[in-house]
Amino acid sequence: MPVLPTVETIRTIAWMKEHTRQARAESRIVGLVPTMGALHAGHLSLVERARRDCSPVIASIFVNPKQFGPNEDFAKYPRRFVSDSENLQRAGVDSLFAPEPADIYPHGFSTYVNVDGLSDRLEGRSRPGHFRGVTTVVMKLLQIVQPNYAYFGRKDAQQSRLITQMTRDLNVDTEIVVCPPVREPDGLALSSRNIYLNADERKAATVLYGALQAAKSELAAGVRDALQLQAVLHGALGAERQARVDYAEIVDAESFEPVIRVSQPCYVLLAVFIGKTRLIDNLFVEPKSSNSEELVFHF
Ligand code: PAF
Repeated sequence: MPVLPTVETIRTIAWMKEHTRQARAESRIVGLVPTMGALHAGHLSLVERARRDCSPVIASIFVNPKQFGPNEDFAKYPRRFVSDSENLQRAGVDSLFAPEPADIYPHGFSTYVNVDGLSDRLEGRSRPGHFRGVTTVVMKLLQIVQPNYAYFGRKDAQQSRLITQMTRDLNVDTEIVVCPPVREPDGLALSSRNIYLNADERKAATVLYGALQAAKSELAAGVRDALQLQAVLHGALGAERQARVDYAEIVDAESFEPVIRVSQPCYVLLAVFIGKTRLIDNLFVEPKSSNSEELVFHF
């Protein structure tokens, strides 16, 4: 069996800071792809995008305890360091930052970043404290690596929006790049949590994409009323016995507040339990041009 070279792995904050300090001194464009590991083609598409803009590209793997609630899946979250590191090597990542929890959150750690308002809605309402954990760790990663660009997936639309807001509000010199989700051939958005689904649940999970497609058809046919669209989403999701809806909403793409009519850039957002696994997905909808009734759809 050929032995794959593994990607250079940086374990400490001090080493990581020195590494990118050197890159910046050479006027290189540093890209960061933050992850929690259990990598799939969605993460690798972020790496691919980063490689177009940056050299070096750094990926981080850190399963952030502060973004999991007490009854969530922190303990069982998939950890696959060896295969992740091989995949990152193949994808052309230059180095991997994999800090220890005690380095990121040393004894006495007590400073958190919270994006008010936006953090409390939808995902934030269902997962109290989740976004505070996300924005805190992402802010720390941006401080440590100081990348020119950082890459996030649009599957986590609210997370990407919050991170963009945070960097704007706190004058962080990193441009946030939000990239489209990657989907299985049957439409299921790739997620590290898809591995929790058994064969039956995996089939049932396509209902999320089906519901988004149903909403798209209505929108394409001219329906703009959010309540009508929500009814379509609930109808499609309700047809799947194994699906339990957490939320199905149409929100403004900036504020994530519910809209009455779709007349500006919006997200159709879903959070649905399939068995015990909570999946999220979305459809981004925007008018084709400023005064156009025609919409463009981004799955
Ligand atoms: O999307 C994720 O994987 C995580 O929320 C992130 C952005 C890496 C922060 O832990």
